[in-house]
Amino acid sequence: MTEALQIAIDAALAAGKILKERRDNFGVIKYKSEIDPVTEVDLACEKKIIDMISARFPDHGFLAEESNKSRNLSSPHKWIIDPLDGTVNFAHGYPCYCTSIGLESNGQIELGVIYNPSLDELFVAEKGKGAFLNSKPIKVSNISDLKRSMLVTGFAYDVGHADNNNLDHFENFIKSCQAVRRPGSAALDLCYTAMGRFEGFWEIKLHPWDMAAGKLLLEEAGGRLSLLDGSSFDIYKRQVLATNGHVHDAMLKILKKGKPAGALS
Ligand code: IPD
Ligand code: CA
Ligand code: CA
Repeated sequence: MTEALQIAIDAALAAGKILKERRDNFGVIKYKSEIDPVTEVDLACEKKIIDMISARFPDHGFLAEESNKSRNLSSPHKWIIDPLDGTVNFAHGYPCYCTSIGLESNGQIELGVIYNPSLDELFVAEKGKGAFLNSKPIKVSNISDLKRSMLVTGFAYDVGHADNNNLDHFENFIKSCQAVRRPGSAALDLCYTAMGRFEGFWEIKLHPWDMAAGKLLLEEAGGRLSLLDGSSFDIYKRQVLATNGHVHDAMLKILKKGKPAGALS
């Protein structure tokens, strides 16, 4: 295992320890917009992760959700961090949240670590070396019929007033597959698609920290990623269609019936 991967795992587990300890004591909640919360625990986890990684890799860059300014972004190595993905769930005591850490080197995601402290599930992937849940290899499901598929999605914090709010796609999918879920953690949605709990995941208006680690997990587990129009996936393009590969084209067809995501920034 590379040193970078070991540090990513240690940092994700350290954040998980904070999430467990402060589950019922998350302090003050602030709001970034009307319904977009940040707790003291988001900030504490992010600080812990950046302190641990930067102590070993002081020249590396960081793109982390809660930091006011991201650091060293000209470095070829950039850690992309969501310290707490699923803050609304965390703040309500609903045990579906995680920490997500990805390392992008020269434009490629080289490793991804996602830790769900509620289930003690540690997802790890390294480029070219496979994807693992608690050290066991994972792969996507082989279901190819949408009527036998459980899909997953999410909604951005502007869902209440934005025109392009994903509700059109939600309606189209819920009428054409077995079930659609909205658990509230995009990073876990990607992990669960990677390990076959879901057949496909789509969402718009995501950020690189929601997708960096999960993208690699899904790829290494044999899945397929694209933008909603089928073009090449890019973690900076604010949207994702991530599937087991077998339902990808069928999902693209349904997505065509709704509003095009267009360029999101
Ligand atoms: C959110 C979650 C959610 C998704 C939202 C994200 P946060 O991240 O991943 O599932 O639907 O779009 O913003 O705010 O809990 O880190
Ligand atoms: Ca997030
Ligand atoms: Ca977050």
